[in-house]
Amino acid sequence: MPAVNILLTEAQIEERVRQLGREIESDYQGKPLTIVAVLTGSLILLADLVRQIHLPLRVALLQASSYKGATTSAGALIINEAFAPDVAGRDVLLLDDILDTGHTLGTLVHRMHERGAASVRTAVLLRKVGRQEVHLEPDYCGFVIPDAFVVGYGLDYNDDYRHLPHVGVLDESQVRDHP
Ligand code: XMP
Repeated sequence: MPAVNILLTEAQIEERVRQLGREIESDYQGKPLTIVAVLTGSLILLADLVRQIHLPLRVALLQASSYKGATTSAGALIINEAFAPDVAGRDVLLLDDILDTGHTLGTLVHRMHERGAASVRTAVLLRKVGRQEVHLEPDYCGFVIPDAFVVGYGLDYNDDYRHLPHVGVLDESQVRDHP
């Protein structure tokens, strides 16, 4: 298996996710929170984060894919909302693994408003520096990271590495087409 250079340790991620959970909990007191997680990259974050939020909440899933097995995020966004229930009147928190160009979350924020959400906020574990094309300030952000292709803690390269408990940068010789 190609080498992964650790960028964020398991302990760092655990502590930051706990902090984000506390922030979200205090911001959503008395509101009907629905966390809409973007598959597949945010699955592990979702599982850890919801256990830090001690409020009644719903979890919904949708799938958005803008790249197929490679390391670029170019291409049309395909959204599958089969597992996203009615969000009308709900306070939606969109959860994604990483904010890169911003096209994914930008599109999904728009989509949640179209579907009648009472409010829409965004949360990401990671935000890459110098890549954003769509103006969007995530409401909750775990870490700002350099522009490198990262894997682990849900993030994949060709569907591998998601299970790593840390976030790491793939050895450059292993990454073929990251711009
Ligand atoms: P945009 O550009 O729409 O991209 O903000 C968000 C989606 O692109 C994928 N992505 C990555 N996946 N390592 C990954 O494993 C990365 O470094 C990376 N950068 C972007 C990811 O699916 C994210 O939801």
